[in-house]
Amino acid sequence: MARSPLATMLGMRAHMVDGGALRRVVGGRVVVVTGASRGVGRAAARRCAGAGAHVVLLARGAEALEAVAAQIVERGGSATAVPVDLRDLDAATAVGEEIVADHGAPALLVSNAGHSIRRDLADYTDRLHDVTRLAGINMLGPIALALPLLAAMRAAPAAGQLISVGSVGMVFPGPGWSVYTATKAGFDAWLRSISPELRGDGVAVTSIHLPLTRTAMSAPTYARTRLAALSADDAATWVCRAAITRARVVAPWWGRLGGVMTAALPAAVDRASGAAWRRAS
Ligand SMILES: NC(=O)c1ccc[n+]([C@@H]2O[C@H](COP(=O)([O-])OP(=O)(O)OC[C@H]3O[C@@H](n4cnc5c(N)ncnc54)[C@H](OP(=O)(O)O)[C@@H]3O)[C@@H](O)[C@H]2O)c1
Repeated sequence: MARSPLATMLGMRAHMVDGGALRRVVGGRVVVVTGASRGVGRAAARRCAGAGAHVVLLARGAEALEAVAAQIVERGGSATAVPVDLRDLDAATAVGEEIVADHGAPALLVSNAGHSIRRDLADYTDRLHDVTRLAGINMLGPIALALPLLAAMRAAPAAGQLISVGSVGMVFPGPGWSVYTATKAGFDAWLRSISPELRGDGVAVTSIHLPLTRTAMSAPTYARTRLAALSADDAATWVCRAAITRARVVAPWWGRLGGVMTAALPAAVDRASGAAWRRAS
């Protein structure tokens, strides 16, 4: 857990999860977790399984996914591994439909799978595939999977929830991260608009604006940094708490402040971001 005073000051302390409360939300029900083969998704899936959920694990790597499922079963939990590349939109929709056919409406869809690329604009002039690949995994695939699951949740008598593991960087300029932040923000904008439509049907939508988290994703860029960061297990705590509170947005205070500043003073934030990016380049 991130316990340093700096992490606490930055609102990145991982609070405890009330195990009984989580069990009341997911116990005996189905939880679908994308990107469950490692990192945040694996940690969240283990926690939900530990609270009595049957977890449906999605990612591309079948072997890693089966290993996570086997560990869960060894610990007395219940899990199904479903290998899928979410960038294949037909496959993503088909998996969503199969989950509904096999298990009915899930209690929770944790839309967590994602991919990041750190690349300046000048370096992807001739790499449009960077944009289409990231749009596939960070926005289009998650929507393709969510559509059948949300339809089932709306029709079900029990409460449902979609928790999206987004990035704190979605709300302010991220020079060098433009494709990543644009695609994550695209999915988040979709959630912002469907949330009011779903509310009346007992389906909650939570957007987590996750700060830096030490996983395979962040390792190439941040492995040696001393920046305050969450562990994958801390991030899973954020996910589990969101399942209990059903908060609309979960974000550190400085992420919310950054969003307000960007909206109120766009040119000033633009200049400051550009200066910081030039210093770092
Ligand atoms: N780490 C951070 O600092 C940080 C900060 C803010 C937000 N986030 C967000 O947190 C989420 C989890 O990230 P993480 O750090 O845990 O990353 P990670 O360790 O790299 O895990 C990513 C997961 O997504 C799966 N995945 C990737 N591409 C996929 C595809 N095309 N189809 C299906 N599954 C796919 C991966 O499995 P396969 O490769 O086997 O498919 C893996 O299970 C992401 O949405 C990320 O954007 C992370």
